[in-house]
Order: sequence, then structure tokens, then C-alpha cells
Amino acid sequence: MAEQNATILVTGGAGYIGSHAVLALKQAGYNVVVLDNLVYGHRELVEEVLKTELIEGDTTDRPLLDQIFTSRSIDAVMHFAAYAYVGESVSNPAKYYRNNVFGTLVLLEAMQAAGVKNFVFSSTCASYGIPQEVPITEDHPQVPINPYGMSKLMVEKILADFGVAYDLKSVIFRYFNAAGADPEGRLGEDHNPETHLIPLVLQTALGLRDSIKVFGSDYPTPDGTCIRDYIHVADLADAHVLGLEYLLKGGESSRFNLGNGNGFSVLEVIEAAKQVTGRDFRVDQCDRRPGDPPALVGSSERARKILGWTPHYADIHTILTHAWNWHQKRHGGT
Ligand SMILES: NC(=O)c1ccc[n+]([C@@H]2O[C@H](COP(=O)([O-])OP(=O)(O)OC[C@H]3O[C@@H](n4cnc5c(N)ncnc54)[C@H](O)[C@@H]3O)[C@@H](O)[C@H]2O)c1
Repeated sequence: MAEQNATILVTGGAGYIGSHAVLALKQAGYNVVVLDNLVYGHRELVEEVLKTELIEGDTTDRPLLDQIFTSRSIDAVMHFAAYAYVGESVSNPAKYYRNNVFGTLVLLEAMQAAGVKNFVFSSTCASYGIPQEVPITEDHPQVPINPYGMSKLMVEKILADFGVAYDLKSVIFRYFNAAGADPEGRLGEDHNPETHLIPLVLQTALGLRDSIKVFGSDYPTPDGTCIRDYIHVADLADAHVLGLEYLLKGGESSRFNLGNGNGFSVLEVIEAAKQVTGRDFRVDQCDRRPGDPPALVGSSERARKILGWTPHYADIHTILTHAWNWHQKRHGGT
């Protein structure tokens, strides 16, 4: 149940995970305002599908943020806005530190000036780097191996310091691989360029790509391909509502992994996608990519215990079915 009339500013709400969070927030009864620069976001998802106010602008724009905070009574900020291409972060780290770290700092300073104390942050399992053990818990050392993961870890450190100095309350969510789509087909994943396995596989099934590439077949895993933890985007969205409620009820700052605890190999995902779509497609075996750990699987026990979060769609076939429905609708299935 929403805290009465609470208004939430959702940065990056026109993007994949942010738009699903907006839907969940509205269904829970919150007022929502989206701030998105639309570099990667989709205006129509916010305005037409979610029927939500969209402010087109950037988190680095302090005058705009001041205007947003003074013209409305904002109770909390959910911060999804960031760039998230790992490879690009290696070739152009300045872009990532500017957007993900500096942009967040400007936002936090504007919140501080306006007296807004509650912050929900999208962090990542990439902040752990190469896992020393799986499943990864929140206490696992954070040693990111690329500027993207480092940019998220830097923000986590800023949040800890702001908590001590300015009484900012934050919930940090470290997601594993977000996947799937709104079960009712209203929203879904539409990154351009796309780098995530499931949409790439489904685009291949749709005939939009010639083949799907599998990087490495000699990892120490049962079928030799990398294992990842796929968490349904609607389950992620639910966790955000619970994290927000936790903060609004006076919960202490905390951090939570969000994964489904079940790893699936690249070949298992491809096989399941062939079953769900009923289509066969070309699979190209390629060499390993540098920096890909054999297995990344998270433990989300803390989120289950403290927030009462229960993921509903842990089955890979369900995740793929929802994503497939969306992809057919979005990209025109034949
Ligand atoms: N997709 C995943 O599997 C995954 C995993 C771990 C963490 N995350 C994090 O979750 C968040 C959302 O990821 P996503 O997959 O939905 O990405 P996305 O690109 O679909 O959404 C991000 C949105 O933020 C907007 N944006 C970026 N920088 C901005 C800025 N400075 N000001 C205003 N708007 C800005 C973009 O236009 C986009 O709409 C990101 O912070 C990402 O790092 C994603």
C-alpha cells in the first residue's frame, strides 16, 4: 500500500527497468514523475503506455533539478538513469564517470538542497568483479573490472558518506541480468544497440539477426558456456516498490542483491528460446571474451528476508515467453 500521496521522481523511467518500475509504482498507488534525457529511453512508453508525466532532461542539469524539486513535493528518488554498456565504458570511461558518477552527484546535491532524503539506486553485480565464490552475497568484495562497474561502486561509496554526513537514506539494489518483459505485454526491453543475450537470441529467432554468437565453450561449467542469473524485470520492479516502502517507513540504509539464485548457461537459454519460439536458428561458437567470469549467480536472501521480496518468474521459459511476446509485438513477428 502506498504511503499516502507520496510522489516519486524516477530518473531513467523511459528505459527498460525504469519503465517497469514506473508501472509497479503506479499500480501500488504512487504519484510518479519521470526524468529522462531520452538518449536511450522511449517517450511513448512513458506518455502513451504509462500515461505518466515525462520531463525530458539530464541529471547533470542542476537548474532543472532545482526547478523539479521546488515545483513539486518529491518524497523519494528512484535513480535508474545511467549508461550501461560495459565495452563502451572501457573505451570511453570519461562518458561513464561523467554520466553515472557526476550525474548522480548533481542529483544528490539537488536532493540535499531540497531536503529529499530517500534514494533508491540501481547498482549492479558488475561491482563485484570476478566472483571468488557463488552464489555471491552482499558481503562479497567489490572489485569491479571495468569503468561501468567502478562508476556504480563509486556511487555506492558516495551514498554511504552522504548517509553519515547528511542523513540521506538509501536502498542500493545490485541487479544480476535483468530479463523478460511485462507479463501483460505493455512494456519490454528495447536497447539500441542491444548487448544482452535474451533479446539478441529472440531477435535472431525473429530473423532480424543472422546468428547468435556464443563466446567460449570451454568454461568450467557443465556445458562449457557461461552461466548467468536472469531476474525477471517485473520481479525487479516489485523489489523497488518494497525498497521504497522500507525507506518511507524509516528503514536504515541498506544494500540488496536482486537475482533469482538460479543460473542458466548460454546454451540452456538458447535451447529454451528455441522451445518457446518454436523456431530454429544459427548458433555460432566463438572464442571467449576477455573479462567474462564462468558463472555469476547471486544470493538474494537479504532482499527476501528484510524486504519480504519473492520473485514470481524464476523459470527461464516464463522469462523467455514474456520477452518473446514483447519482441514479436515490438519488432513485428512473422
Ligand atoms: N539491464 C540490466 O541487466 C542491468 C543490470 C544491472 C544494473 N542495471 C542498471 O539499471 C539501470 C537501468 O538499466 P536499463 O537496462 O533499464 O537501461 P536503459 O538504458 O534502458 O535505461 C536507462 C535510462 O536512463 C536514461 N538516461 C541515461 N543517462 C541519463 C541522464 N544523465 N539523465 C537522464 N536520463 C538518463 C536513458 O535515456 C534510459 O532511458 C541502469 O542504471 C543500469 O546501470 C541494469
